[in-house]
Amino acid sequence: TLRCERVLQLTLAVIKPDAVAHPLILETLHQKILENNFIVVRKKDLWWRRKDSESFYAEHSGRFFYQRLVEFMSRQVCGPMRAYILAREDAVAHWRELMGPTKVYRARYTAPNSVRALYGLTDTRNTTHGSDSAESAKREIAFFFPEFSVQQWLDKEEQRFR
Ligand code: TYD
Ligand code: MG
Repeated sequence: TLRCERVLQLTLAVIKPDAVAHPLILETLHQKILENNFIVVRKKDLWWRRKDSESFYAEHSGRFFYQRLVEFMSRQVCGPMRAYILAREDAVAHWRELMGPTKVYRARYTAPNSVRALYGLTDTRNTTHGSDSAESAKREIAFFFPEFSVQQWLDKEEQRFR
């Protein structure tokens, strides 16, 4: 028998302050999300305090770019960032593929049509964030959307398609 299954996965995507500040880039990225068949499960604009930034990027503390990164993601003058919970098949991998490599020069050479290649300014101001695994997606979604339950949403969605 042939079974047709939709296996949805959630990821956390963030449009960083450099990109939110530019209305055309922000609109383009939002369109890209929709064109790529992501369901926008939740969306919100927010600012980080320094301690939020430090704690979200704790895994990088001590790296040469950590202070710069923490500053950039929490600087009030940069304006807000925009966080999305996105759903589709292979959401984590697909969003990371759309973003392209972390470092902008590498993105420009190896993935010239990726978001970071097209809109990234520097390795730190690289336009977007995306979770790197299903486990980090769960943790990062909880960080941005503490009231949201990943499991509950997936269960509900599964019931709809039963
Ligand atoms: P990392 O998790 O390695 O990359 P990604 O965002 O692709 O998962 O790094 C987190 C952020 O740290 C990255 O988006 C930008 C910043 N960063 C730098 O500023 N310089 C660097 O050399 C690296 C590796 C990261
Ligand atoms: Mg990462």
